[in-house]
Amino acid sequence: MTPDALRADSVRKTYRGRSGPAIEALTGVSLRLSRAERVALLGRNGAGKTTFLRIASTLLAPTSGEVEIFGHDAIADPESVRPYLAVVPQEGKPFMHLTPREQAYTYLRARGFTRETSKSRTEHALEQMGLTEVADRLSITLSGGQRQRTMVATVISTEAPLLFLDEPTIGMDPFARRSVWDSFRELTRKGSTILLTTHYLDEAEALSQRLYIIDRGRLLAEGTADDMKRSVGGTLRVSVAPGNGVAEQLATFGPLVRDGDTVHVITSPGRIQEILQLAAHSNLTASVGPVTLEEAFLRVVGRSINDES
Ligand SMILES: Nc1ncnc2c1ncn2[C@@H]1O[C@H](COP(=O)(O)OP(=O)(O)O)[C@@H](O)[C@H]1O
Ligand SMILES: [Mg+2]
Repeated sequence: MTPDALRADSVRKTYRGRSGPAIEALTGVSLRLSRAERVALLGRNGAGKTTFLRIASTLLAPTSGEVEIFGHDAIADPESVRPYLAVVPQEGKPFMHLTPREQAYTYLRARGFTRETSKSRTEHALEQMGLTEVADRLSITLSGGQRQRTMVATVISTEAPLLFLDEPTIGMDPFARRSVWDSFRELTRKGSTILLTTHYLDEAEALSQRLYIIDRGRLLAEGTADDMKRSVGGTLRVSVAPGNGVAEQLATFGPLVRDGDTVHVITSPGRIQEILQLAAHSNLTASVGPVTLEEAFLRVVGRSINDES
């Protein structure tokens, strides 16, 4: 049997500072990625995404647990797995005194690719990331979004068997984000495996074939975006704001998901009319839409993904 691209079992991480209480960043995370899969780790700020990615990419030792990459023990023998990996760390920056073209090319040469391969891969990645026009400018003169695209271009050009990307599209405009998504789809078609973290629901949905929801260091849900939406218990969402005063009545129509003052009722098309009437009688605003990953996230985590508290 060919081993999975990544297998993590009961990974724990406790940060112990010199002062203050210990922080349990991961409390037993187990996950698997098959070969050529695109998987997203979705969670709020502080959920533990970066900690997990740093451990899986051998940059940080876990407090306990196991990580295997293509069947090799990543914790006991990190050197054995590094050739399989390429990583875009959170807030990673390109070398400021290299141009995007030099950065990608040099990185590929350092990883042992020939001049020809390095050159053609570099040009392809620069084009994919829309960097052709700025490819010969020093990175120090580029915008934040262009630097981030340079980081992604450098790492995708490796076509490494397993890619870890920590919030890869942060700071990018919508057009650039789409180019990143396309490049990831191309990579998995060619056989690479991708694990990315994100706190963008649209990104997790558009990009991943499967996703894990993580909160406070533990995985709370796993499945496709459609699985998660179905698990909310209906196909339509009626949002009533402020809905707390009528929550009890709303609950008779289906499961409730709360987001601050707004109460979402998950229901079926046949019940919509009654709910809208109920809202209108109480002078409340109601809107109807399909169930989205947002409701799934709220139900699983109990808080909105953008809730910083
Ligand atoms: N080096 C560190 N020392 C102490 N605590 C840390 C360190 N890095 C992260 N943490 C804490 O661990 C938790 C998880 O952080 P992180 O993995 O960065 O989450 P995410 O990437 O999902 O935002 C947070 O509470 C964070 O404050
Ligand atoms: Mg992070």
